[in-house]
Order: sequence, then C-alpha cells, then structure tokens
Amino acid sequence: MARNVAIRYRRFMNTPLSIDAAAALLAEQNYVADRQLATAVFLALKLKRPLFLEGEPGTGKTEIAKVLAAGLAAELIRLQCYEGLDVNAAAYEWNYARQMLEIRLAEAKETAREQLAEGLFTGRFLIERPLLRALLPRAVPPVLLIDELDRTDEPFEAYLLEVLSDFQISIPEWKTIRAAEPPVVIITSNRTREIHDAVKRRCIYHWVDYPSAARELEIVRRKVPDAREALSRQIVAFVQHLRSLDLYKLPGVSETIEWSRALLALDSVALDADTVNNTLGVLLKYQDDIAKVQGSEAARLVEKIRREVAA
Ligand SMILES: Nc1ncnc2c1ncn2[C@@H]1O[C@H](COP(=O)(O)OP(=O)(O)OP(=O)(O)O)[C@@H](O)[C@H]1O
Ligand SMILES: [Mg+2]
Repeated sequence: MARNVAIRYRRFMNTPLSIDAAAALLAEQNYVADRQLATAVFLALKLKRPLFLEGEPGTGKTEIAKVLAAGLAAELIRLQCYEGLDVNAAAYEWNYARQMLEIRLAEAKETAREQLAEGLFTGRFLIERPLLRALLPRAVPPVLLIDELDRTDEPFEAYLLEVLSDFQISIPEWKTIRAAEPPVVIITSNRTREIHDAVKRRCIYHWVDYPSAARELEIVRRKVPDAREALSRQIVAFVQHLRSLDLYKLPGVSETIEWSRALLALDSVALDADTVNNTLGVLLKYQDDIAKVQGSEAARLVEKIRREVAA
C-alpha cells in the first residue's frame, strides 16, 4: 500500500507536470479552480515553493491543502495558528518530564551519569510538533498546512523563515534537521493583518477571490449533487447578488454550500421569499446584515432572480 502511494506520488511529480495536470488533480477531488489558481498550484509543486493563499473567509483556501494531500496520497500535517503560538507548540519541545526521570534513574546508577549527559538532548527526548514532523523522512513528502498565519505574531513569522526557505529547523541543543525532500507547503491568511514581506517573498502568492457565478454553480453541483439544477442556479444567483450589497460580512462559498444543503433538507424546489427569510442565518452571521436583507430586500431579490433564472 505504502509503495503504491509512493509510486503514485513519484509519477505525478516526475511526469511532465503541467498546469492541466494540476487542474486535473484538483478537479479529481471535486475542487473547482480557475486557471490562475491551477497555475499557482502547478508552480508551487514544480518549483517546490510554499503556496501562500490569502483571501476572504470561506473561499476554499484550507480546502486546497486537503485536496492536494488526498490527490497526492500524502499525509496532511496541519498547523492551526493562533495568537501566542510558539516554537514549543509549532516545531518541537524537549520532554522535560522524561529527562527528569532519566536523571533520577541515572543518579541511582553511578556508571550511567556520563552516558546520560550526552543523551539528554537527542531525538529520544524530543516531542515533534507539526513543523518538525513535516521535515522528517518518509516515502511521500507530506502536505504541510500552516492555516491562518495572520492569527500569529511577527516573532513566529520570523521563525518560519528558516523553515520556508531551507526546509530546515535548527535545534540549538542538538542539531539541524533538514528535509531530504521538501514538503508541499500551503499557508493561508484571512488578511486580518499584513504578513511580512520576507515570508511572502519565499512563497508563490495567490489571492483567492469569491468565485464567478459559473464557477460557484460548478462547486454547488459537485458538493451538493442532489440539489436540483434550477434551484442551484437560483441559489448561486442570490448569493452573488448578496455579495454586491453593502454588508458587514459577505457570504463565502462555504455558506453557499450550506444554504444549498439547508434548502435541500427543506425540500425546496425553487426560491421563495418566505424560505429565504427563514433561512438567512445560514448565509449571514451578523444580525445587522440579516435585518438589512430580511423582508423587502429578500422579496425584491427573489423576484429579480425568478425573472433572470427560470425555475
Ligand atoms: N473552489 C472550490 N471548489 C470546491 N469546494 C470549495 C471551493 N471553494 C470552497 N469550497 C468549499 O467551501 C468550504 C469552505 O472552504 P475552506 O474551509 O477551504 O475556506 P477557507 O477559505 O479556508 O475559509 P476560512 O478563511 O474561513 O478558513 C469547504 O467545504 C470547501 O469544500
Ligand atoms: Mg480556512
């Protein structure tokens, strides 16, 4: 099994890798990418550079890492970022409890002391966290997802530079660990703050925008195949209209998918104002936004869409 997986990965990485092959890899996993994104993925794989995906929430950034891992049959190693994330949680940590235990045992046995001094800072006492795990040797290099980097702080970004440019981590008490083959690295950010240029410079950058109506319809078709085509068209048209309104938080693709599932669960065959009003909470997550759309605006949009997209 592991051998098959490795062969599959090698075949993909070694046969003439093309933009079309990258697009097919994503499509196979039901990810609908435009040409620009397929090109960015292709370049990241081909040049073995991290892919930096920035964009609005719910537009499929995290999903890219998941589908690449599935498509390449590689392990997905995920580092979820948060404020205060440090090296101990992201890269490695010394297992102090185990070191203490070893010291106590050695104290009891005079002869073991010298041996112990050398051995305390080696792999045996190291707890591997996601960044380090992603650099360790294995048949197929993993996909390393560094999710929502904008939630961390600048010192952590600075720490990442060594990992991203040389695919290595220096452990001062022990040695430098370098990946024999770089992992596929996907970094995402919701742009709640700007990420430092030094990080971006080491990556292929791509802005993930809301999809066009045609692409969003294709996503709904693939993700909610049981929804009727006519309803899906109306759903997509409605969401696309919502995105042109002045709302605090626009719905992402994930909301479109959830709304399709919700309407399917309600046995809807076409949009009507009542159902829209009652289910707006699936699409919009702020009361001010819901209040703006509920009622006359929803009725106007439904009427407009009915004229544009025949059910
Ligand atoms: N182009 C696409 N093709 C297929 N599915 C998509 C696409 N874009 C988004 N999705 C779906 O939308 C959902 C949300 O995607 P994802 O979690 O990757 O968004 P995100 O950009 O990481 O959002 P956030 O910033 O909130 O973390 C997933 O279920 C994913 O399957
Ligand atoms: Mg995400």
